[in-house]
Amino acid sequence: MKRFLILAILIPTLSNAEEHQDHSMNEERLGVNDLSIGLRSLLSEEMRYLQKGMADIFPLYISGDWEAIAPLARKIENSYVLKQNLSEEQVHELHSKLPVGFIELDQKFHYLSGMLAHAAKMEKPELVGFYFSKMGETCLSCHSLYATERFPKLEPTSNEHAH
Ligand code: HEC
Repeated sequence: MKRFLILAILIPTLSNAEEHQDHSMNEERLGVNDLSIGLRSLLSEEMRYLQKGMADIFPLYISGDWEAIAPLARKIENSYVLKQNLSEEQVHELHSKLPVGFIELDQKFHYLSGMLAHAAKMEKPELVGFYFSKMGETCLSCHSLYATERFPKLEPTSNEHAH
């Protein structure tokens, strides 16, 4: 349990999205967009931290410095920028606004960073590469679903999702 990050430790509750099952994807995106400015800036802070971690890992990966990767991956796994800064009110806000799918992707991401740390510790280059790329995929998945305002190029182009 201690491996769960911030958002992940919050027990998923009914989100706004679930009241509108027919259009769950669009509604889920609203959940994140609907966060207060304070919470949203904490989320951005955490994201920039994640991005820096990933960027720091890459040169270590291509130079085979497994020993240095493991602690970095652990830091990402245990990152809790949000948790450290959350007030009770904000925890409540996350409960009521964050979609379950978001929390699941968050959990998956932190699981993968734990696996990356493990692979690095075992000095398994192929597994390190595998988990590193899986982590990148999870960034992209979550952004495609929940961060298209910040990353407009990820906006679905099919008519199905046209606004
Ligand atoms: C569980 C969902 C989720 C995962 C996983 C995730 N992100 Fe994000 N990320 C978001 C959301 C949502 C936003 C947009 C926040 C906003 O619009 O205020 C965001 C925004 C960002 C930003 C922009 C921050 C800013 O405001 O300047 C960066 C950079 C970023 N993410 C990097 C990453 C990287 C790198 C990873 C993977 C290593 C990652 N994210 C994984 C949900 C996620």
